[in-house]
Amino acid sequence: MAVLPIARMGADVLKARALEVPDPKDPELQAFVQDMLDTMQDARGVGLAAPQVSRAQRIVIFFVPAARNGGVEIPLTVMINPIITPLDAAKNDGYEACLSVPGLTGLVPRFTHITYSYQDLSGARVEREAHGFHARVVQHECDHLDGLLYPQRMADMTTLAFADVLESEAAAKGEEIELDEEGK
Ligand code: NI
Repeated sequence: MAVLPIARMGADVLKARALEVPDPKDPELQAFVQDMLDTMQDARGVGLAAPQVSRAQRIVIFFVPAARNGGVEIPLTVMINPIITPLDAAKNDGYEACLSVPGLTGLVPRFTHITYSYQDLSGARVEREAHGFHARVVQHECDHLDGLLYPQRMADMTTLAFADVLESEAAAKGEEIELDEEGK
């Protein structure tokens, strides 16, 4: 078990395009993926991309809890060299957070309905379709592979906020706010 340090906004590794993984079956890569899983679990996140632990390769891990996805859990998934294709132009807004941008949250428009494909750790290519929160997590994580953090996807920067402030403001108004992805 190895918990790796998480790179934060400003680090060069988070701005660069990550490189394709030549061989998903490489034992060294498999050991690194285990370290990513340990790191994500330690941070209590739902997603992590390799550049966030300072490795510029196209590797993402994530899972989607049933409670966040209409009762359907997406089990822990390791994606090597993922590719996203939006199925139509529709987008919806959701608050996102990121382990590399600790404490903050903001409203981010994302494609509502996508397909995506990736190689698993045996090298086989897998295809899936995703809606809603599932689609949002995949888009957020894959953006890390292209050097993008969620604030760069925001349409309205006035929604950028400290998550605890937003939550206490919402609570004071008797509202509940649902924060998506990675952080809490
Ligand atoms: Ni993130």
